Amino acid sequence: MPTRFNPFDDAFRRDPYPVYRALRTEEPVHRSFLDAWVVTRHADVKFVLKDRRFGVDPIPERIADRHRFVKSRGGNLEALLSASQRFFFFLDPPAHTRLRGLVRTVFAAGAIDRMLPIMSAYTDRLLDELAGRGEFDLIDDYAGPLPVFVIASMLGVDDFDLKTLKGWSLDLSRILDPLVSLQEYQQMDAIVRGFERCFREMFAARRERPSDDIVSVLLKNAQGHDDLQERDLAAICTLLFITGEETTVNLIGNGMLSLQRHPDAWARMRDEPELADTAVDEILRFESPVQLTTRVAHEDLDLHGVRVRAGDKMVVGIGAANRDPGVFDAPDELRLDRRPNPHVAFGDGIHYCLGALLAKAQGVIAIPRLLQRMPTLRIDTGNLQWRRNIVVRGLTHLRAFA
Ligand code: HEM
Repeated sequence: MPTRFNPFDDAFRRDPYPVYRALRTEEPVHRSFLDAWVVTRHADVKFVLKDRRFGVDPIPERIADRHRFVKSRGGNLEALLSASQRFFFFLDPPAHTRLRGLVRTVFAAGAIDRMLPIMSAYTDRLLDELAGRGEFDLIDDYAGPLPVFVIASMLGVDDFDLKTLKGWSLDLSRILDPLVSLQEYQQMDAIVRGFERCFREMFAARRERPSDDIVSVLLKNAQGHDDLQERDLAAICTLLFITGEETTVNLIGNGMLSLQRHPDAWARMRDEPELADTAVDEILRFESPVQLTTRVAHEDLDLHGVRVRAGDKMVVGIGAANRDPGVFDAPDELRLDRRPNPHVAFGDGIHYCLGALLAKAQGVIAIPRLLQRMPTLRIDTGNLQWRRNIVVRGLTHLRAFA
């Protein structure tokens, strides 16, 4: 029987790797019932991400479609549609280049170095709060709070409830998925309005009194771009929450699960802090927080003998590429000292993850610190619930015992 790629299937969510293996070997360009070609080999994934004959998947068009439908019934998805049309993640050059350029430097190495003590202190505070609890949820109580605190601090959002922002980011991350209900779109529309209100207030405050946060840098970089509206800038800030929050939660959550399943690696991670940087890359490869992304072909072309036509959709199998035995020795083994490690967990080409350094820094602090501060920690790997998102792979909860 031919292999079926069904990312909505529960068995696939639990363990997508056998399907990836079969596709890589038997059908590297697979025709999916999602009306898209699925590529799973490392070289093909890099090719589709980098070749300019492919462009972004026009997700805003999908939203425009739903917007028209809702409008015919007296409602609208205007805020969500407008923001999605401004998210540079969903744009090709030149619009992409211009908007990404406004925040290009805010996650550069120097900026991350300045955040290290703040991230470290916050991680310790979380661990202090967990000390003596006996049992806790590794996702809600540890992996979850850190990334939202970090993005909010870097943007300069300090007087807002982090739990609300976190919930908003999680719900909005579904915008990347191919099958989203109308109700979810309506919920996302309300969230986008909430984000926009929050950022507009900040813009007014920072115009009066600039600071060294991302919002202030953005306002400064936007000077001279007279056609840019506040909506464009609010969309950039919102995009940073969507892209940077849930992904990083899952780096920590998936990482801890992978370590629990590999006791030797767990011990090495705890005892050899100098290994953390390499180890986090391996965790990103092994259980990639972003499993796939999507593109559209702009021209006809041949791929492994398959004719891909202009307008065809592509599912780009990041999680599959990261287990390609043609590139990674023993790809199904977690080897914390794997070097080199040319994983594509952060993508490739012009949309390469803007927050890669920031995400890694959080993993490098949060994962070993947890193991060192809680030497008797154990994780319950039974009954795992994976989130229903298909782009982002992560657990809803992970019970831990200190
Ligand atoms: C472990 C955590 C993370 C992973 C695995 C991850 C992964 C990715 C991937 C695969 C892409 C490219 C998607 C594509 O080409 O379609 C991407 C893009 C992006 N990421 Fe991340 N990301 C992470 C954390 C972050 C963080 C912390 C931020 C910033 C706060 C961030 C901001 C972005 C942005 C803005 C883009 C869009 C870039 C563009 O379109 O030019 N990410 N990320």
